[in-house]
Amino acid sequence: RRLCESPQTRQPLAYLRLRRAIRTVVEHRDIEPGQALPSERDLSQALGLSRVTVRKAIAGLVEEGLLTQRHGAGTFVAERIVKPMSRLTSFTEDLRARGLNPRSEFFERGIGEVTPEEAMAMNLSPGAAVVRLHRVRYAGDEPLAIERSVVPASVLPDPMLVRDSLYEALERRNCRPRRALQRLRAVSLGAQHARLLHVATGSAGLSIERRSFLDDGRVVEFTSSWYRGDIYDFVAELHTD
Ligand code: GLP
Repeated sequence: RRLCESPQTRQPLAYLRLRRAIRTVVEHRDIEPGQALPSERDLSQALGLSRVTVRKAIAGLVEEGLLTQRHGAGTFVAERIVKPMSRLTSFTEDLRARGLNPRSEFFERGIGEVTPEEAMAMNLSPGAAVVRLHRVRYAGDEPLAIERSVVPASVLPDPMLVRDSLYEALERRNCRPRRALQRLRAVSLGAQHARLLHVATGSAGLSIERRSFLDDGRVVEFTSSWYRGDIYDFVAELHTD
C-alpha cells in the first residue's frame, strides 16, 4: 500500500484548485482558443506548486477537451469543441464551459400534433400534443448546429417557456432528462443546412439524434441535430465490461 502513495495523493486539493483556476481563465477568455498556456515550469514557479501537481491539473483538462497538447510546442486552449459523449449535457452548458456565448435563432417554436413517426419514437399516443423547436445554435455570431426538437406537451405545455435553452426550461419544470440514447452519423451537409451553418455545400457534418428520458422512462425530447464537422469532436471513454 505504501508503494502506491505518491506525493500527489497527499495534495489532491492543490491540483484540483489549479484545475478550477485554469478552467475559470478559459471561461473568462483570458486565454483565447488556440493560444498557449504558460509552460509547466513557469506555472509551477509562479504558483509555488510542484511540477507533478501542475502536470496533473493540465492532464485532467486535456482529457476534458478544454486544453490540447502539441508535442514539443506546449499546451493550448482547444479550438475545436470537444464533447464527452458519456455526459448528458446541453448545448448551452457545453458552450458556457468553454467561455463561449450560446445563442439560438428560432425558425419554429410552436405546438402541434405528433406525427406517426414521432409518436413511435417517443412512445406517445397518436394525436398527442407536442412542442416543436427548430433553431440554429450559435456561439456568438458563429453558427455551430441546427436542431429540431420535439417535446411532449405533457412535459412542456408552452413552447415560449424555452427562452434559449431547452434543458433550462425542462430544469425549471423539474423535468430535466436523466438518461439518453444518442446516434451519431457522418453526413455531407446539403445546400440548405450548409447555408445556415456558413459552410460550403457538401462539407462534413455530424447528424445526431437524441432521445432523452425521465427517471420513469417517459421520453422528454426527440432531437435531430446537424453539427458542423469542422468544429466538433465527440469523445467517449470505453470500458471492457
Ligand atoms: C444538445 C443535444 C440536444 C438537446 C440540446 C439542449 O444540443 N444534442 O438533444 O436538445 O443539447 O440544449 P439547450 O438546453 O441549450 O437547448
